[in-house]
Amino acid sequence: MLKDKFVVLGVTGGIAAYKSVELVRLLKKSGAQVQVIMTKSGCEFVTPLTFQVLSQNPVITDMFKEPPRWEVEHVALADKADIFLIAPATANVIAKMAAGIADDMLTTTLLATKAKIIVVPSMNVNMYENPITQRNIATLRKFGIFVLEPEEGDLACGYSGKGRFPEPRIIVEHIKVILGKDGDLKDKRFLITAGPTREPIDPVRFITNHSSGKMGYALAEKAIQRGARVILISGPTNLTPPIGLEEFICINTAEEMYNAVMKYYADVDVVIKSAAVADYAPEEIKHKKIKKQGLNLTLELKKNPDILQELGNKKETQVLIGFAAETDNVTANAQDKLKRKNLDFIVVNDLTEAGAGFAGDTNIVKILHRDGRIESLPKMLKRDLANEILDRVLLYLQ
Ligand code: PMT
Repeated sequence: MLKDKFVVLGVTGGIAAYKSVELVRLLKKSGAQVQVIMTKSGCEFVTPLTFQVLSQNPVITDMFKEPPRWEVEHVALADKADIFLIAPATANVIAKMAAGIADDMLTTTLLATKAKIIVVPSMNVNMYENPITQRNIATLRKFGIFVLEPEEGDLACGYSGKGRFPEPRIIVEHIKVILGKDGDLKDKRFLITAGPTREPIDPVRFITNHSSGKMGYALAEKAIQRGARVILISGPTNLTPPIGLEEFICINTAEEMYNAVMKYYADVDVVIKSAAVADYAPEEIKHKKIKKQGLNLTLELKKNPDILQELGNKKETQVLIGFAAETDNVTANAQDKLKRKNLDFIVVNDLTEAGAGFAGDTNIVKILHRDGRIESLPKMLKRDLANEILDRVLLYLQ
């Protein structure tokens, strides 16, 4: 995602400057080129040498020192940036930015850049909550600058509250989302379902399946990073929802998923139903725990609504993608679902194959298109498969 992107990272004088060292490492690992500019007070917290070693670039600290290479002159740097990150951003630099002050290399370059700017505030909670700082942050946002919310917790100054520097991994995710805003799925609205459903039997038991949600969450994450607006409807999982979702709706039962899907369906361009929805639910939910008695227990099940089938009946201009989890007659069963549910294509995984289906990080699928084409994809990470699926969605959208 960040391959060959040029990131200018401004490091200002806060204790969280040491966390930006890890940020540089992650940015480099994601393929970005990183140029660090440090303010004078930033250099008091971490030495420029540390950033220089990790970024593999000389660090700029002084406006008037002869640059090591001519192109690091401030306007050239401002032009070259794909993204301009200020992390950590002190109340002082935020105030200067809001006022348009350019009195050192960092603020001068900032004022000259047309790149997207991300500010990561990190400071004492009282400084952060000070109405002057809040006004300055509001001013930056008004000018289209992305200001991340600091996290809450114990602060280096001994206080507890809002002001903590987020995990560097989270900042990198934000960068991907912001850079992806002009991607090939720009402004397309997606509804993605993920995870299992959970059908209660009594207050302690339920019927479910092995879906972890990884496939659906990967689809949501990659769609966002390509510019889509994504609504994710998820059954119970242990996953953290991707950054940048338009809406995140948690459901338990197939019926709840049905209601949520129907609420949003009319206003989306694409539906991808990767959730593993229970076909049946107990006819009656017992309000008290079922006691152990006799050798057998019979549960009466009733059919759940087939959400995807219903969408297929109603669809007109939207792109509709289904998944099929099969153990036998894989292609034929998927073919049947493709037709019966009136889909554009269906992604089928054979649950008997090692590395395919539930819970793992990889999947092996066939994609069956409505025109009869069948593509067999090799084993790959669910994240990479998500992009493969989105590449195909794009073709149906055009
Ligand atoms: O979540 P992971 O651990 O990453 O695992 C990924 C996965 C195996 C769950 C995923 O790749 C997958 O195959 N999802 C679909 C599972 C499934 O329910 O398949 P199905 O063949 O039973 O259903 C076919 C399609 O109809 C699916 O798109 C399903 O969402 C939809 N359906 C099914 C039943 C129902 N009542 N309503 C539905 O909408």
